[in-house]
Amino acid sequence: MMRTRPLKVALLGCGVVGSEVARIMTTHSEDLAARIGAPVELAGVAVRRAGRVREGIAPELITTDAAALVAREDIDVVVEVIGGIEPARALITSAFEHGASVVTANKALLAEDGSALHEAAEKHGVDLYYEAAVAAAIPLVRPLRESLAGDTVNRVLGIVNGTTNFILDRMDSTGAGYSEALDEATALGYAEADPTADVEGFDAAAKAAILAGIAFHTRVRLDDVHREGITEVTAADIASARRMGCTVKLLAICERAADGRSVTARVHPAMIPLTHPLASVREAYNAVFVEAEAAGRLMFYGPGAGGSPTASAVLGDLVAACRNKLSGSRGPGESAYAQLPVSPMGEVVTRYHISLDVADKPGVLAQCATVFAEHGVSIDTVRQQGKGGEASLVVVTHRAPDAALSATVEALRNLDTVRGVASIMRVEGE
Ligand code: HSE
Repeated sequence: MMRTRPLKVALLGCGVVGSEVARIMTTHSEDLAARIGAPVELAGVAVRRAGRVREGIAPELITTDAAALVAREDIDVVVEVIGGIEPARALITSAFEHGASVVTANKALLAEDGSALHEAAEKHGVDLYYEAAVAAAIPLVRPLRESLAGDTVNRVLGIVNGTTNFILDRMDSTGAGYSEALDEATALGYAEADPTADVEGFDAAAKAAILAGIAFHTRVRLDDVHREGITEVTAADIASARRMGCTVKLLAICERAADGRSVTARVHPAMIPLTHPLASVREAYNAVFVEAEAAGRLMFYGPGAGGSPTASAVLGDLVAACRNKLSGSRGPGESAYAQLPVSPMGEVVTRYHISLDVADKPGVLAQCATVFAEHGVSIDTVRQQGKGGEASLVVVTHRAPDAALSATVEALRNLDTVRGVASIMRVEGE
């Protein structure tokens, strides 16, 4: 039976995502009502600047007073798509205190303060949903939180930032340098005017923190995630990767240690073999592998950004939150019972591809090999390129702790016969 009194939604933010949420709520109102079991109504839209005409939204719904909107006693669900830490955190907290559930796309806030938000939602008996915070339309949060709740996830590995994937894809397909590819991404609207959050890996690291937290039932914050962006990736790195039958991707990698007693979370560029499914993820698409004990390897792929794909995830959460409101229940809260320690990057076991500019004379290879041996790092392959003043050694290691690998690189830099370290990149996905 359909309830006739509508559920009321407050929308915070009416940019690319918010306006699309409002549009779909209007154009699909009958379907949404049928799926929820009650009509759902946009009761107010908080914006920074009033006065602009917002197509499809009645002007009387627009307000610049977001605090008053979330404090209204008749609001059932608050949708937060303004992003950033404040005022989003204060508004979400106030929404909980006033009995509203919250749907948010705010990865930065969740990665910084997710546990406090979950606690506040639980205290007030309401929901906190955030499918849109990670890879937009691609279902990841719900599969990890619900579908795989009976399994043990050991690894989450993926491309979770579209802007950087577009840039690296362009560098790979055209031979362009980083700046040129960034300019193209900016001109096409993939990169923002200030691309720092994307190219320095902050966006991907926030997503990695959220995914690791859910996957491993452990609190993981942004500060726990080792982060390297793509600004140092050169055309030479991409060319080296090609010679090895690899491409370069910015990867988010969350892993449970082999003994199951700790976890790690990291974001950095890495070479992956062209045969790996992630290598074929082009342009601004996202893709995530989840490896679980019983399920095996699952791959999730799709558009990880943009107004419509993000709105799709927001609306899925909105339907869930509304259904719970109607039935007087709550969705799953935070699951952090495992409380596994998050190990530092130095303890991650990985492989390095290192390109060294060296003097071309007898004994240099042996000298370099000794440095690897002294640090307990085993060499997989070594190849000399060029001659004389152009000579370089390309070394690929076996798996070793990251701390040992980086100490090896530092020691190599100090050798008289090493003119410079041209490129260092981790190798993943083999
Ligand atoms: N800027 C992100 C990306 C989308 O390029 O994937 C929002 O997290």
